[in-house]
Amino acid sequence: MGQSNLNHGVARQVLLCQSAQLVNSGDAVSFEVLYEGRSEHGFVVRFEGQVYAYLNRCAHIPMEMDYVPNRFFDISGQWLICATHGALYNPTTGACRAGPCRGGLIAIALTEHNGSVYWHTAPNLQPIEC
Ligand code: FES
Repeated sequence: MGQSNLNHGVARQVLLCQSAQLVNSGDAVSFEVLYEGRSEHGFVVRFEGQVYAYLNRCAHIPMEMDYVPNRFFDISGQWLICATHGALYNPTTGACRAGPCRGGLIAIALTEHNGSVYWHTAPNLQPIEC
């Protein structure tokens, strides 16, 4: 997982999960991050073959969106939904599609290769170091 020396200026790739854990429009895999110095959760989903990750924070009220853990897709499998008031988000961009959200989800950059998915650090997004 994470390396011990923080280098805030260079993005690093942090192992998140195996590719096989993510099926199209299926359950997410959650992971912990430090976002702007606070411990928060991110989640990764697969949609139409591609992987996408976002901070688990609704753009309506900054709270986690899944009431069934790791379930973010609506019943159609086409949109990410916040369980609290039903805001819908585009899974490929995080943009608000409908509901009370303004703006969109905060995206987390990803790489998928050799059967694994990695998230990328950023100046305001770091691994939780043990
Ligand atoms: S908190 Fe997500 S829609 Fe209101």
